[in-house]
Amino acid sequence: MQRSGQKNLEACFYSFIGAKNMCGIIGYSGNREAAPILFSGLKNLEYRGYDSCGIATVHGNALHLKKDAGKIDEVHKKLSLDALPGKCGIAHTRWATHGSVTKENAHPHLSSSGKIAVVHNGIIENFQKQKDFLTSKGFVFNSDTDTEVIPNMMEYHMKKGYDFIEAAKRSLKHMEGQYAIVAVNDEGRMVAARKEAPLVVGVGNGEYFFASDVTAFLEHTKNAIFLEENDLAAIDGGLKIFNLDKNEFVERPVSKIQWDAEQARKGNFDHFFLKEIMEQAEVIERISKMDMKIIKEIAAEIRKAKGIFIVACGTASYACMTGLYLFSKIAKTHINFCLASEFRHFKHFLSDKSLIISVSQSGETADTLSAIRAAKSMGAKVISITNSEGSSLARESDRAIVHRAGPEIAVNATKTYTSQLAVLSLLAYELDNRLDDGLEELRDASRYIYYLTSDNARKFVKGLAEILKDKEHLYLIGKGLQYPTALEAALKIKEISYIHAEAFAAGELKHGTLALVSEGTPCIAFTSEETESEMLNSIMEVKARGAFVIGIGPKRSRAFDFFIKVHEAGDFNPIVQIIPMQILAYQLALLRGCDPDKPRNLAKSVVVK
Ligand code: AGP
Ligand code: GLU
Repeated sequence: MQRSGQKNLEACFYSFIGAKNMCGIIGYSGNREAAPILFSGLKNLEYRGYDSCGIATVHGNALHLKKDAGKIDEVHKKLSLDALPGKCGIAHTRWATHGSVTKENAHPHLSSSGKIAVVHNGIIENFQKQKDFLTSKGFVFNSDTDTEVIPNMMEYHMKKGYDFIEAAKRSLKHMEGQYAIVAVNDEGRMVAARKEAPLVVGVGNGEYFFASDVTAFLEHTKNAIFLEENDLAAIDGGLKIFNLDKNEFVERPVSKIQWDAEQARKGNFDHFFLKEIMEQAEVIERISKMDMKIIKEIAAEIRKAKGIFIVACGTASYACMTGLYLFSKIAKTHINFCLASEFRHFKHFLSDKSLIISVSQSGETADTLSAIRAAKSMGAKVISITNSEGSSLARESDRAIVHRAGPEIAVNATKTYTSQLAVLSLLAYELDNRLDDGLEELRDASRYIYYLTSDNARKFVKGLAEILKDKEHLYLIGKGLQYPTALEAALKIKEISYIHAEAFAAGELKHGTLALVSEGTPCIAFTSEETESEMLNSIMEVKARGAFVIGIGPKRSRAFDFFIKVHEAGDFNPIVQIIPMQILAYQLALLRGCDPDKPRNLAKSVVVK
């Protein structure tokens, strides 16, 4: 699916927020002091990467650089990042891929002579070859990063007589992998380029911004140019955009961003994670009101297909697993589920009559992209469900459903998960020719989420977090639709509170893991009207071994030591039952001193395989 010139502006915003890649980059060139602008832009991008950061500015024909390992506030406290001279500069918040988290490896990286600085988002896959070549030409490297070859390769070409922009073009031709870069030299010339990584240009009044997403400059301008693959943008007597594939200058439309900076900010919330949990009622309601044409068209594609796979990673994969149960139960339509990273082993089941449905909030997850590429190689049709219209996934798919959950800034998914569930439920209902019933139930669910996220409901769940906060292990069980819910709840707890949480299909526990259940072991059991009696067997099994049983569902059981009542929502149970679990994960993170927005070792979207 190609984005048209007349882009849906709202969608563009989504596509670059919560979209791809670790790390955030920003460049500024204009008539104001650059460092404070870069510093505040960096703060807005911090959700993308947060192990080290740095800023370089240009003043008096020299580059001025400050960088170190640590979160932005820590580094700022030490170095005063906003205090650097000059009206032009670049900045970076890193999520390390090559080289450990050290000052030397933090960006920006300088060329050997110190005359060119580069910030980079992505991976240069063939950096070693380039590094060997440049070393043989006398270039000196000061870091272990792949990035450092970029400023040095530019310098190599400049030494051969090419000007700064031509040197950038020539250097990038040698770079394999993914990148969004902004480079600046000691004369204040600036160039930016993208390949499989996001980069957007902010067009202000006599000033330009280059950034990983619009949040970095939204407080300065709402005019944005979304660069396309292999575009290189340069400030050269105004903004010029050159496409490296076409080898010619190109025009890209200026979009007006409909969102204000506030929406991508925390507002009154302490954390984005909580803000995004709270937004779910509204998001689900919005999905229930979206134009159903696309749902009907995609359902028609599903009906036609011979052999369907649904693929995704992480949280999105649990949405897909839920989809599997929904398609079986409601639509009686056979689909196969596969983790995207495993899909290539099954691609031979596909033909040109098959369909692959991929689900990804960012639309940039490398494993998911490679799964759809494998499916395409077999001639299969690709449909994607994503929050990011301009993403690689949306562009490479035949059709895409964009669920418009809005910016999801916390690293861990909440509202994009429930949105994916909502879309999959609607598809299943449409396949059963009962879309209106599905929509009505979805609206009921959205109203109920207001209650589940209310102050009182959150306080109640906090009580449970107090009980569990010092536990090392936690087990979760569910059956049918509640099994993927248990898996997602376990992932949320692990990701942000670092408690080891493991989920099972309730019937599986007795096949081994029951050995680990002893006096006081917490065990969360999801129940529903449909599974109640079967679940009771499993609950009694853990209870008999002394487990502390937490029940979630419509009906209290005497076996429960703690009970979170969640009204029966039938096929929409997965949407409502995950809400108290997201809140539990959040409260556990706070009580254990973990950062709910930026958990260790994780990135918003994983663009490496
Ligand atoms: C969830 O909180 C994430 N940590 C992760 O599992 C995520 O769902 C996964 O990487 C897939 O991302 P995507 O939806 O952007 O493809
Ligand atoms: N590969 C580069 C590094 O490790 C950039 C990583 C990033 O995107 O932050 O420094």
